[in-house]
Amino acid sequence: MYDWFKQMRKESPVYYDGKVWNLFKYEDCKMVLNDHKRFSSNLTGYNDKLEMLRSGKVSFDIPTRYTMLTSDPPLHDELRNLTSDAFNPSNLPVDFVREVTVKLLSELDKEFDVIESFAIPLPILVISKMLGISSDVKKVKDWSDLVALRLGRADEIFSIGRKYLELISFSKKELDSRKGKEIVDLTGRIANSNLSELEKEGYFILLMIAGNETTTNLIGNAIEDFTLYNTWDYVREKGALKAVEEALRFSPPVMRTIRVTKEKVKIRDQVIDEGELVRVWIASANRDEEVFKDPDSFIPDRTPNPHLSFGSGIHLCLGAPLARLEARIALEEFAKRFRVKEIVKKEKIDNEVLNGYRKLVVRVEKVYS
Ligand code: HEM
Repeated sequence: MYDWFKQMRKESPVYYDGKVWNLFKYEDCKMVLNDHKRFSSNLTGYNDKLEMLRSGKVSFDIPTRYTMLTSDPPLHDELRNLTSDAFNPSNLPVDFVREVTVKLLSELDKEFDVIESFAIPLPILVISKMLGISSDVKKVKDWSDLVALRLGRADEIFSIGRKYLELISFSKKELDSRKGKEIVDLTGRIANSNLSELEKEGYFILLMIAGNETTTNLIGNAIEDFTLYNTWDYVREKGALKAVEEALRFSPPVMRTIRVTKEKVKIRDQVIDEGELVRVWIASANRDEEVFKDPDSFIPDRTPNPHLSFGSGIHLCLGAPLARLEARIALEEFAKRFRVKEIVKKEKIDNEVLNGYRKLVVRVEKVYS
């Protein structure tokens, strides 16, 4: 994939594949993400249906069609402002993240799958705490797998299966139980907002799901990168702050995102009509030789490191501070306890957008200090 990106950056940086325009250069990707007026996120018609939704005229629809991820201002800003302060670094549950990390790691020994035993449960347990819901890790993981890919998809056609109905009824129950009560968690905030019921369900599900597979992938990818590129001693000495940024750049958990043009636009020498889909290749932008020196090398203390792995502009990942915190604590605590001797088995997720491992089995030795 990275060879193809390199070739496309050089030969065809704005490329129409018959369905979608693909962007490969950092400058173009960043420009699109920062120009929501010409490149819209309103892919599922949320902005257009708002009045109908709020006046209760749409009662049955798929709630995950209606989230901030697929909305434009002013609706987007209204939605984001509802919970944004909870994701400020100073409001994050730092002690809880460490407590969960230490507990999960204390159960591991010699050889284990880092994905299943560590990278999956950590983000689920933390977001569950912030939402104030009881956390059945297996259920939330199943729901995350079901929904993650569908968030933000323009061609979202899928049957509403049993699991999805279960997820909707879980979100309804959690929201209903908080209506009119004192607000003590994020679910309470959503439940007592002025959104319609369908939007509340979409919002709740977005927060419950968006950070799970992504953060799992970040932790798994970083463990692989740190092992392949001998970064563990650096992390033990200097901490994981910068090395996590390099893992985000080098092995982005989300490979690409998408926008739709609101007017005719010109990018480089290509003219793109209104209503066309534009695919922003984050993974290619992160390796652009015009921005990153030696882009195919993993440099743990790379500075600056303006990667696009959390997006850019108004939709910049809301959970980025949380994902960074979880990954930093997870990797530092891991490095304190274990030395990875060998990656015994790895299986990639079979997916073009989400980049990570389904299985990553490591053999470790305990670190005695
Ligand atoms: C390493 C982990 C993560 C990665 C790589 C990631 C990636 C992204 C990206 C690329 C976007 C922008 C999409 C676009 O512009 O089209 C985004 C948006 C978003 N992310 Fe994350 N994410 C991560 C973790 C999280 C976490 C932990 C949460 C917590 C709930 C979260 C919640 C969101 C939300 C709500 C949005 C929509 C923001 C908006 O539209 O204003 N993400 N994420």
